[in-house]
Amino acid sequence: MPNRLTELPSAKIASRMQAIAPFYVMEIQRRALELEAAGRHIIHMEIGQPDFGAPPAVRDAVIDAMHRQPLGYTDALGMRSLREAIARFYANRFGVTIAPERIIVTAGASGAFLLLAGVLFERGDEVLLPAPGYPCNRHFVAMFDATPVDLNVDASTQFQPTVRAVEAAWGSATRGIVIASPSNPTGTSMPFDELAAVAELVAQRSGALIVDEIYQSLSYGRQERTILEATDTVFVVNSFSKYFNLTGWRIGWIVAPPSYVPEIERLAQNAFICPPAPAQYAALAALKPDSIKIYEERHAEFRARRDFVVPALEHIGFGVPAVPDGAFYIYADCSRFAADSFAFAFDSLERAGVAFTPGKDFRGTAAHRFVRFAYTQSMPSLVEGMDRLSRLLNAV
Ligand SMILES: Cc1ncc(COP(=O)(O)O)c(C=O)c1O
Repeated sequence: MPNRLTELPSAKIASRMQAIAPFYVMEIQRRALELEAAGRHIIHMEIGQPDFGAPPAVRDAVIDAMHRQPLGYTDALGMRSLREAIARFYANRFGVTIAPERIIVTAGASGAFLLLAGVLFERGDEVLLPAPGYPCNRHFVAMFDATPVDLNVDASTQFQPTVRAVEAAWGSATRGIVIASPSNPTGTSMPFDELAAVAELVAQRSGALIVDEIYQSLSYGRQERTILEATDTVFVVNSFSKYFNLTGWRIGWIVAPPSYVPEIERLAQNAFICPPAPAQYAALAALKPDSIKIYEERHAEFRARRDFVVPALEHIGFGVPAVPDGAFYIYADCSRFAADSFAFAFDSLERAGVAFTPGKDFRGTAAHRFVRFAYTQSMPSLVEGMDRLSRLLNAV
């Protein structure tokens, strides 16, 4: 009998795992939780999830569904009623008509990316992704053995690509580009006309443009738009996680050109069978006017927080070279305080009890100089966080 405790597993680990980097923010969070367990009070500005939770009507709708519905598998593309409600959201909010048949309900934006990467990309394909950018999107590309390629962006273009930069970066193996607007970690958006021009360029090159609109309804002081106003030959990803505050419920959607829907459906049937049924009832309730009213109040609260934290960070000595106009993030230059933002993030956590994310998670040429603050905490906590950082960094 082999010794069960010492026997080494012999199954290999697939080489693609080398292309999947860890999420460093989790290390920050782990240390923050350890400090909390030891009795320290920590201000959490590291995690990108709204602090509000599901509105009461959403919770009630799910409780009601649990009592009245079997909550079995639904259609792989999502419940017809939810797809129609999402189509109405586009009509009411943006004045664009989207046929419900083009809408695929998914397990969050993450489920949407998995399906799109699986349908669109394969070995030998290169896919452009702006850096700094949300790390998981590049990992979905790598999961299907395609090659994610950094398209470096900086503050001179609000950390968003220009059509000229996309044209210059597009090579013979390039098959697509993923753009998040507003972006994580910078909270900045791409001008609508520039994004529409990229869509035209990508169509000319017979490539795929995936626009991640997960932060679209969290825009401040600018008109909220969707690329679907300009073109139908685009893959739009959205989610109930951010504006709708339903992170853990795992529910989102894709709007795809009609001819791609059957392929996405086939992969969805196999990968997920269907999106989670309880979360679909939650999403239906989230789209109702009464819930939207609550979300708009929260949207205004996020704006007030941004208007407080950006000048507070600048006053402390951080640089904010591109003022965010969306999402709930501030990408701040900490080079006045440290040469290495990774060490700086851990040091600030230990000494001031304020947690934020090092730029390393998001790549890009200046990652070592930047950190990301998420203002997903109440105003009193944010005031306390800024106060602590000021005392730590401005002490003479
Ligand atoms: C830009 C961006 N896209 C996609 C996601 C994934 O979101 P979810 O799967 O919760 O919908 C996130 C989450 O932080 C994000 O920031």
